Amino acid sequence: MKVLVSGGAGYIGSHTVVRLVEAGHDVVIVDNFSNAVPAVLGRLEALTGTAIPCHAFDLTDHDKTAHLFAAEAFEAVIHFAGYKAVGESVAKPLDYYENNLGSTFSLLRAMQRHDVTKLVFSSSATVYGTDQAGATEDRRTFATNPYGWTKVMQEQIMRDVAVASPEMRFALLRYFNPVGAHPSGTIGEDPSDVPNNLMPYIAQVAVGRREKLQVFGDDYDTPDGTGVRDYIHVADLAAGHVAALEALDRTQDAVNVWNLGSGRGTSVLELLHAFEKAVGRDLPYEIVGRRPGDVASSYADPAKANAELHWRTEKSVEDMCADTWRWQSQNPQGYAG
Ligand code: UD1
Repeated sequence: MKVLVSGGAGYIGSHTVVRLVEAGHDVVIVDNFSNAVPAVLGRLEALTGTAIPCHAFDLTDHDKTAHLFAAEAFEAVIHFAGYKAVGESVAKPLDYYENNLGSTFSLLRAMQRHDVTKLVFSSSATVYGTDQAGATEDRRTFATNPYGWTKVMQEQIMRDVAVASPEMRFALLRYFNPVGAHPSGTIGEDPSDVPNNLMPYIAQVAVGRREKLQVFGDDYDTPDGTGVRDYIHVADLAAGHVAALEALDRTQDAVNVWNLGSGRGTSVLELLHAFEKAVGRDLPYEIVGRRPGDVASSYADPAKANAELHWRTEKSVEDMCADTWRWQSQNPQGYAG
């Protein structure tokens, strides 16, 4: 299939591009590089043996998006592009609504005009709000911050479009906590600022860019008191996207929701200790207060994706740590060095 990957230069997008090319698909990237760097494109070419065409513009620009669809005969879109930092979304709600919804409007308009019917959407477990433990896809969706609401709203927009245009096929992929890197160590997560998320923060402590990890709370109702999350290796997540894309050819349902997670929970301290094993030394940390808005436990019920996509996670927490460490130690300053 000829697939447009929005946000294809980003963390999850770039890993999915590799997997798509490996599966024989023809990939075109669109990315405005607001949270990615062009250097990833050379790494992708080295990994895949193919130069991936990349259009550098903002999808909220309807005219540029329309031109791209007029010039290329896409058969499907995988839509990653979007702002994703919870705290920033609270400070800048209009930026989040305008960017995340605007790019989706622009894409859906162009898809309709050019009869592109398949869309795989990068959603999140954040749509389960405060109810993320053992979540099945039929749970009610709501959010606790503007970022989360943009995901809930984009899902709703796609449902409404599917009613009006029943030939459409949507995959709404609700990710749990993506971590890890390509086993080559040449592409990985490269936060442009202080990392908000646990794994990149630990990796930067290990490489000496941050002094110590702050563990946000050890008084949760979990086995060791620290927050429990369902970490998923980005390579497994990428494979889930390719499986979902291919499933859209078989499904009779216009809207398909799939959780992408392992179903297993890992605590903050368990992840830290697994990372210490990968690095071969202890890492400094301190326990501090809870981070506002955090839930105690979040983990998927992945049964629906397992059955319908013939997909399941294969990588362990040890793989996630080893691959993150390979990426971080080979690229201490990320793509910048
Ligand atoms: C966060 C977002 C979620 C979003 C996801 C995208 C919040 C509240 N949630 O998920 O909406 O979809 O990122 O990637 O931001 N932790 C520490 N110290 C740190 C960082 C994290 O102890 O420096 C803990 C957290 O309290 C949590 C766990 O590590 O228990 C995982 O945190 P994080 O990686 O930020 O992911 P989520 O909060 O699950």
